[in-house]
Amino acid sequence: MSRILTGIQSSGKPHLGNILGAILPAIQLSEQANNQSFLFIADLHSLTSIKNAATLQDNTRAVAAAWLACGLDPSKVVFYRQSRVAAFHTELTWYLSCLTPYPMLANAHSFKDKSDQLADVNAGLFVYPVLMAADILLYDADFVPVGKDQKQHLEMTRDMAEGFNRTFGDTFVVPQSRIDERIMVIPGIDGRKMSKSYGNYLDVFLPEKELQKVTKKIISDSTPLEAPKDPETDITFKLFSLVANENEVAEMRQNYLNGGYGYGHAKQALFETLVSRFAPEREKFDYYYHQNSAALEQILQEGEAQARDVASKKIADVRQKLGFA
Ligand code: ADP
Ligand code: TRP
Repeated sequence: MSRILTGIQSSGKPHLGNILGAILPAIQLSEQANNQSFLFIADLHSLTSIKNAATLQDNTRAVAAAWLACGLDPSKVVFYRQSRVAAFHTELTWYLSCLTPYPMLANAHSFKDKSDQLADVNAGLFVYPVLMAADILLYDADFVPVGKDQKQHLEMTRDMAEGFNRTFGDTFVVPQSRIDERIMVIPGIDGRKMSKSYGNYLDVFLPEKELQKVTKKIISDSTPLEAPKDPETDITFKLFSLVANENEVAEMRQNYLNGGYGYGHAKQALFETLVSRFAPEREKFDYYYHQNSAALEQILQEGEAQARDVASKKIADVRQKLGFA
């Protein structure tokens, strides 16, 4: 049996890029026979960027509802908020911090990138990879599916686990990253990577009218309606081909090549396909996020009790090894 673990931050609302690039692949992996999965919301990590309690809580609910809407089965997966197991995560973060050389953190790509770009360069951003290592090592994870940008964080986690095991005896499973090179970068409505930070995302859980409005904003060139168009360079076509079926994609491609088919038509087709392809997900999201947040809360609390149980056993072993018990 392999234990799979991954976390997703709640620093914004979940979007199509998160769903296709992270949520669905992690759920698929968790459904493979013999895998046991821990999927959690990294809301302590989100505090590095969000300093508003209501926003943080709202994003966390939206991200949790999105996982459930996309098919996470809480009877098979341990599903929890990191903040509700905070005592163990932060305790292990401290122990690992004391064993981690300062330059390892100072040279991390993501810290350097963020500290160049952000106005708020807090110490949390600096310690971020240690908290991430604690998230992983507390649960004896074998595999950690993440995007390419997290590769270095996983290497640091492995270094911390190996260092601890060498000094204090075998304690942690040394995890492997699972970087799926096939997962493509989903473009946003302006053609750059779809990202919360660029404000160029499609939130497939929006009410229909609002979703339609966003699809209308997708950037296109000024080729007139009658003229043939190049499907390969158009953002609407790219997005459509990620969510429509093969026949629909072939038909739209032909429409582009024939001419007499405007970008407005394509955007409307994309909007309709998003609504129909994600109809069950939209309904479930609505249930957990808007109608029945008590059900969502209950599911999370059940997962948190299981997570605490696993984490407390690991921490007991670590305390013993360090001389604190
Ligand atoms: P954002 O860029 O919106 O802040 P995150 O960095 O929080 O997104 O990403 C959460 C997860 O979603 C990561 O695993 C990341 O690889 C995946 N993801 C985010 N944006 C995209 C995208 N445009 N295409 C594919 N995967 C994405
Ligand atoms: N840093 C990850 C990201 O931004 C989120 C994360 C936090 C995570 N802890 C984790 C991912 C543990 C995998 C395992 O995408």
